[in-house]
Amino acid sequence: HAADAQRTDLMTLTRFVLNEQSKHPEARGDLTILLSHIVLGCKFVCAAVNKAGLAKLIGLAGDTNIQGEEQKKLDVLSNEVFIKALCSSGRANVLVSEENETEIYVETSRRGRYCVVFDPLDGSSNIDCGVSIGTIFGIYMLKDGKAGVVSDVLRPGKEMVAAGYCLYGSSCMLVLSIGNGVHGFTLDPALGEFILTHPVMRVPRKGKIYSVNEGNAKHWDEPTKKYVEIAKFPTGGSVPKSLRYIGSMVADVHRTLLYGGIFMYPADKKSPNGKLRLLYEVFPMAYLVEQAGGQAFTGKERALDVVPKKIHERSPIFLGSFEDVEEIKTLYHASG
Ligand code: AHG
Ligand code: MN
Ligand code: MN
Ligand code: MN
Repeated sequence: HAADAQRTDLMTLTRFVLNEQSKHPEARGDLTILLSHIVLGCKFVCAAVNKAGLAKLIGLAGDTNIQGEEQKKLDVLSNEVFIKALCSSGRANVLVSEENETEIYVETSRRGRYCVVFDPLDGSSNIDCGVSIGTIFGIYMLKDGKAGVVSDVLRPGKEMVAAGYCLYGSSCMLVLSIGNGVHGFTLDPALGEFILTHPVMRVPRKGKIYSVNEGNAKHWDEPTKKYVEIAKFPTGGSVPKSLRYIGSMVADVHRTLLYGGIFMYPADKKSPNGKLRLLYEVFPMAYLVEQAGGQAFTGKERALDVVPKKIHERSPIFLGSFEDVEEIKTLYHASG
């Protein structure tokens, strides 16, 4: 019976990535092994997040990171888990984490051909109130296969070979692209496996939701103010958009991928480059949204074209449904 076959023909993330790998005869399986270590980190953080309140993992760690943010215990724990998992994979070379001031070089005997940029725990401000949080990662191949250097990660997001996020919400979902579409996997806690539940995710061409922190409205530039104005008070009798803002980028982007609409963290007078970090928040999410048929724009250019100069550089971001982003691009281009 089809249903029985379906139930026993489990498409796990590992099997899915191996299938993809088999399409590249020259592949050595290194990316598969690297991803399996990232998945291990996500499973660990998922378990830690689910028992945070019980395991005294909520609250502050007592330190401040390079971003000037007070680190939460889960920020520090997740960061350590991902760094250790990536180093032990033997496939990573240069690492960039939101929580580390400088890039990390894997020790020589364990160096591989990939560079991983990651936000070990995204949405930390939401941990203590039980709102969804996540992990975000992007992967570059070393430029010339020798010992990695920081310029191996100061590259436009379009040069990434893979990107993904894990959402620790009502279920634990890992959404991944290795350059051939976006696919969603849900953790089955009984098996400890991520099972393919959302094959070939496509962001709706146009949405009815806008997602932005309206508390910054006082500082927005004219095109953003105009876009939000039209969303709230549309002309020509169309219906106003809904506002949905969770404050965890992973949750806001996941909803945008599934339901459509636009997610924005614009530049403003206080933060001329916006708040979100280019390497491990903007690039991986822009990569996924484009792979799902949407757009990602900085207010000036295609997000994936930006060439980073510093590993913790920030960028404004407008991403989501193709047509919604097209509208704000028109407003920015008209403003000259
Ligand atoms: P992080 O917790 O990794 O530092 O990231 C927080 C980010 C992102 O998750 C979210 O979209 C944004 O901060 C929310 O910022 P505001 O609270 O300023 O809206
Ligand atoms: Mn942070
Ligand atoms: Mn973040
Ligand atoms: Mn973070």
